[in-house]
Amino acid sequence: MISLGGILIALLSLRSANAHLAAWHTGMYCMDGTSGQVDQNANEIVNPLYQLPFSQWWMHHNNLCDEFPPAPGVFLDLPAGGSFTVEIAGNRGQTTLSFNGQFTSEWPDGQQHPDDMNIPTCIVQPNMHTQNQTMAAGTAFAISYQSDISNVTPENLAVFSVRYHTPWKRLTTYDVPAAMPACPPAGCICAWGWVPNGCGEPNMYMQPFKCRVTNASSRTPLSAPRAPVWCEGNPDACVSGAKQMIYWNQLERNNIQVSGLGLSGHPKSPAYNQKCGFADGAQNDIFSGPPS
Ligand SMILES: *[C@@H]1O[C@H](CO)[C@@H](O)[C@H](O)[C@H]1NC(C)=O
Ligand SMILES: *[C@@H]1O[C@H](CO)[C@@H](O)[C@H](O)[C@H]1NC(C)=O
Repeated sequence: MISLGGILIALLSLRSANAHLAAWHTGMYCMDGTSGQVDQNANEIVNPLYQLPFSQWWMHHNNLCDEFPPAPGVFLDLPAGGSFTVEIAGNRGQTTLSFNGQFTSEWPDGQQHPDDMNIPTCIVQPNMHTQNQTMAAGTAFAISYQSDISNVTPENLAVFSVRYHTPWKRLTTYDVPAAMPACPPAGCICAWGWVPNGCGEPNMYMQPFKCRVTNASSRTPLSAPRAPVWCEGNPDACVSGAKQMIYWNQLERNNIQVSGLGLSGHPKSPAYNQKCGFADGAQNDIFSGPPS
């Protein structure tokens, strides 16, 4: 008799051979894939974005992921002053959202790896675009106080949380500023972003979520976010306050340009870390005034 588990594992390993990574949560767009059926092994959202026109890369429209919202009433909850956790993985099948989580591990690919994994030629399984945890570029969540995804623009989508040295393990936690105001009744739109630091095609990741702020106590709105700039080793040059997500290596609407080598001697690669003025954790400087 053929083992069903064996078939699933074989399918998973086939589908994940070149898998990239995304942040999985029931509040995400594209959790079921784009076939119109529920795909327990969905992985459309992990596809990287590289040299695409704005209409294609924005909110992962290139494979229509932005047209598959979460179920009505399902949100990624952002507790003001608290934190929330998502699962970074290459395939829904390697998260707790499928198969009762039986194919999960501590890692984004459901496999076992040493905590101090370090491959100087770059880790490709899981496809983390890094040599080790120290080199992992950082990832971020941004929020727009628009309820309709079609009203979200680079100018109203502000980074509110950053986690340095990710993606790394599957479970990844982000901190929410205490002063985050509540969303409109129909919720907000959030996005997860990652710009890897070399180790493969210098691409970009952006994926939409429906989100809402819980336990909000302040009503002070966010400032209009400004484009980040490269400021490695020169903190005075960093953009302070609310910042846009990093839009890089696309055909249109990039919001950052870099050239030459960074302090490490490698080509500059903008990322959600101190090199572009992003602090680790909650971005507490993104509001237009004191809490009210
Ligand atoms: C991480 O990788 C970088 C680049 O290969 C290397 O310089 C550094 O020593 C590594 N760090 C650890 C902790 O393995
Ligand atoms: C809600 O916020 C208050 C402070 O404003 C805090 O004491 C409480 O722990 C928070 N509750 C949750 C569920 O985060």
